[in-house]
Amino acid sequence: MKKVLHIVGARPNFMKVAPIHRAISERGSLSQKLVHTGQHYDVKMSDVFFSDLGMPAPDAHLGVGSGSHAEQTARVMLELEKVFVSEKPDLVSVVGDVNSTLSAALVAAKMGIPLSHVEAGLRSFERTMPEEINRILTDRVADLLLTPSADADANLLREGLEPARIRLVGNVMIDSLLSARDRALRLPTLPDLGLTPRGYAVCTLHRASNVDDPTVLGGLLSALGHVASRLPVVFPVHPRTRKRFAEMGFGPTLERTPGLRLVDPMGYLEFLALTSQARLVFTDSGGLQEETTVLGIPCLTVRDTTERPITVDVGTNLVVGTDPVRIQNAADRILDGYEKKGRIPDRWDGHTGERIAQVYEQFLGVGEASRLAAV
Ligand code: UD1
Repeated sequence: MKKVLHIVGARPNFMKVAPIHRAISERGSLSQKLVHTGQHYDVKMSDVFFSDLGMPAPDAHLGVGSGSHAEQTARVMLELEKVFVSEKPDLVSVVGDVNSTLSAALVAAKMGIPLSHVEAGLRSFERTMPEEINRILTDRVADLLLTPSADADANLLREGLEPARIRLVGNVMIDSLLSARDRALRLPTLPDLGLTPRGYAVCTLHRASNVDDPTVLGGLLSALGHVASRLPVVFPVHPRTRKRFAEMGFGPTLERTPGLRLVDPMGYLEFLALTSQARLVFTDSGGLQEETTVLGIPCLTVRDTTERPITVDVGTNLVVGTDPVRIQNAADRILDGYEKKGRIPDRWDGHTGERIAQVYEQFLGVGEASRLAAV
């Protein structure tokens, strides 16, 4: 049987790989293995997602951990090369834009192993963003470019990538969301936190450009303080952000901010229970812009750009930058009842994993999909 090797490394990868893994396993025409690089290693940043998403434990764990970009990328490359030599995959499948994604792409390309990039073509057009470099380089060397939306196809074509490599498959992360939503809503997350549906806001912040600069972070926290004066704000704090709070001395101010609840990072289901019933989401995450669009929850993205413009053009997302006054005004409008209404983009329908499994069968010349293509 032809073998697909999936590479996961960091939190936002898990909900993208789970539906692909499930679809391949249900179709039964390919063998597959899951390799975890260990870029994220805390139980709350990694292990809990495997159980929440019903994903099997990784077949290999490389344990690379944290480090500078060069260290982390290089360590993943060194370890993955050994895995690719022993596993001899017919296709390497990577998702998203984290350092582990780029490392795997480079190793596969150099070893002449076909590479698929899921979530190809997203561009923020901000070269200072590490993820943008990872996206551009991964797309450049991928044999299959599986895109979530037509804007991504347009970006790839503009960069001169061959149309034959590109397939608009839809947003695979939404498969995970739709299949987990009912289970999430049965959890006692809201009562446990003393919250009522639509009676609170959710905040996440972890982008280097926001949390590594004390002026930017201070401004964001002051805007958050304003929102928290109007309704409770739950803020699951990413480990990187928690470190910055300590280094920059924001801890005491945050503890004194009325209405603000700092909590540990949450599992997939618990966090979905929280976001799907929020009044407002305040974030610099990429995935959350997409999830709020599907959930119909207003989202304020505290960045200057987004690589996911469809969430603004079609969905509930507003990109409001990092100026605290602008953020407060945008939040006030929503809380005063002027919410942006949106629609769900095409092919964000819960069936992207199956479409990807079909593309892999065709590409590798196996299964029903490839027999039909050959007729
Ligand atoms: C990474 C991704 C980012 C993604 C984010 C989601 C890159 C370049 N960035 O950022 O695109 O949105 O994951 O979380 O790949 N840490 C822990 N425990 C962990 C993981 C990290 O304590 O399990 C701390 C360490 O101090 C580490 C820091 O967080 O140095 C940053 O981790 P890293 O993996 O480098 O990047 P993220 O900020 O998590």
